[in-house]
Amino acid sequence: MRTKTFVLLGGVFVALASFAHGYQCQDYGPLAGSPQGVRLTQEEHPSGWRRRQCVSCHPIRAIHCDDDSAFLTGWDMGWVRGVVERRGEASCILCHGDNGTGSSTQEE
Ligand code: HEC
Ligand code: HEC
Repeated sequence: MRTKTFVLLGGVFVALASFAHGYQCQDYGPLAGSPQGVRLTQEEHPSGWRRRQCVSCHPIRAIHCDDDSAFLTGWDMGWVRGVVERRGEASCILCHGDNGTGSSTQEE
């Protein structure tokens, strides 16, 4: 009985902790190894494909906060954060492609 309660509480705690962490920093793993690098493809972005309002699902302060893979990808995430801070949502397509919206000349 006691163990059960303990396990249950543990589960709740882990869920809360990962929720809090997920909110602070979204992490979908290194994109460098995906088919088109940081450019989005339909396969890797099923839930967000053809959507323009990137920040409604990816709040700016919840993204680009993982500096750990920078040494693998070669991206300076501090610089990326700076670009996004200055140019806001309009900057997303510069690096991630047009997300299927056809608003750039990028061929798909
Ligand atoms: C409706 C919510 C939603 C919108 C709008 C949205 N996304 Fe996403 N995005 C997601 C989800 C959920 C994931 C996780 C992968 C998945 O299930 O599609 C994701 C994953 C990503 C990833 C990681 C992809 C990978 O390979 O792991 C990037 C980069 C990204 N989104 C950028 C954008 C950009 C840029 C825009 C705007 C052009 C955008 N998203 C709009 C929900 C959204
Ligand atoms: C200057 C280039 C650049 C711009 C502009 C940019 N990104 Fe990114 N983005 C990156 C790089 C580089 C990564 C990390 C790729 C990796 O982890 O391998 C990334 C990762 C992401 C991820 C995955 C989660 C994470 O934090 O690693 C999401 C979601 C995302 N970007 C959304 C956006 C949205 C929304 C915008 C516009 C507000 C945007 N990006 C603008 C370069 C950029």
